[in-house]
Amino acid sequence: MNILLLGSGGREHALAWKLAASPLVERLFCAPGNAGIARDCKLVALDIADHAAVIAFCKAQKIDLVVVGPEAPLCAGIVDDLTAAGIKAFGPTRAAAQLEGSKGFTKDLCKANKIPTAAYERFNAAAAAKCYMRARGAPLVVKADGLAAGKGVVIANTLAEADAAIDMMFGGGLGAAGAQVVVEELLEGEEASFFALCDGETALALASAQDHKRALDGDQGPNTGGMGAYSPAPVMTPEMVRRAMDEIVLPTVRAMKAGGAPYKGVLYAGLMITAEGPKLIEYNVRFGDPECQVLMLRLMSDLVPGLLACCDGMLKNFDLRWYPDAALTVVMAAKGYPGATAKGSVIEGLEAAAEVEGVEIFHAGTKADGGRILANGGRVLDVCALGQTVGEAQARAYRAVDRIRWPDGFCRRDIGFRAVQRESLEKSKA
Ligand code: AMP
Ligand code: GLY
Repeated sequence: MNILLLGSGGREHALAWKLAASPLVERLFCAPGNAGIARDCKLVALDIADHAAVIAFCKAQKIDLVVVGPEAPLCAGIVDDLTAAGIKAFGPTRAAAQLEGSKGFTKDLCKANKIPTAAYERFNAAAAAKCYMRARGAPLVVKADGLAAGKGVVIANTLAEADAAIDMMFGGGLGAAGAQVVVEELLEGEEASFFALCDGETALALASAQDHKRALDGDQGPNTGGMGAYSPAPVMTPEMVRRAMDEIVLPTVRAMKAGGAPYKGVLYAGLMITAEGPKLIEYNVRFGDPECQVLMLRLMSDLVPGLLACCDGMLKNFDLRWYPDAALTVVMAAKGYPGATAKGSVIEGLEAAAEVEGVEIFHAGTKADGGRILANGGRVLDVCALGQTVGEAQARAYRAVDRIRWPDGFCRRDIGFRAVQRESLEKSKA
């Protein structure tokens, strides 16, 4: 088969690495890709927002499957356009991608189908939102309805903070994404990222993961796209996985089908594991980044048949096998991230780092310059490792990090701390 992968982050490098290992793949392309992805795929300089250009490339290169990494092209309907042109594509249609593209859409779907989630109300003007917030009292969570590149959620501990968030969003601070707002209850518990492959009718749970969204050690500092992740997530016990499937994912798949927008692709449920069980914080319509990196390391089966089964409605009798090992990834970001960062600094020591046992390095924002690798984004590298425990994977990943010479980068030093604490507690009990 010939496959075209769309995207350019660490998630796409992990997908490229896994796709490249499939005996089913003849030619593998990625647009636009990065310096690491170039090791596994032929890079194509396509503007992926230009659907006609993507379709023309697929026809010229006889592409059998397009794998879409990020949410923006999915919400822009690239799967609809590819399908209309007779090209198979992995990912949801524009209508189904509303699960990520509109928080209000997802909240209403939850309410109508009794899917556990935070209590909420939707607003399209500031006055009514403020009135509701006064009636409920702080803390509250204020969310822009549309895609806001990770900036659309404000956890407000006081009414003054909630008012400021409302004024910012309705004042146009997030553009069109903030024209509608959801105000909801603050959930308490431990977060987990839960992934399921969906084929429109049914769903197959993937391995669980947890990410670290805050920029600094101890889960402090501003929210980011994710500074590290590990799998499995100890909080996702087999019972919690069953409940997440029965109470959240499967009712969503049924509701989407009933609503005429069957969901195909990978569904990423951001969960809060509360005292009452799993509750949905939000959906994303793609793999998590950097959760995908740890999932791909742990996936024993070929990924390609899984993606095809989603596209073809054949998941019912499908299964995937996983390595029992734990996987962990440390994100190395350019100084300043999640704010403005400088591009072009040189990264050295990557070969030596990759020699650490169990280590795999995926590139996120990198660019090749002759033989050199240059930083070219906010999140730049994902240093991943497998190990028998999260603790072992963590030690290996940081051993590799310490071999990388990149003065303009930084990373958290505590990725996986909750799981490692749990492991040492269990060891001391045994
Ligand atoms: P998002 O940018 O939509 O991924 O949300 C960012 C983060 O905000 C989530 O990962 C949670 O940590 C937090 N969050 C969002 N909604 C809630 C909620 N209702 N209760 C508690 N935390 C929340
Ligand atoms: N790791 C969080 C995300 O992919 O949205």
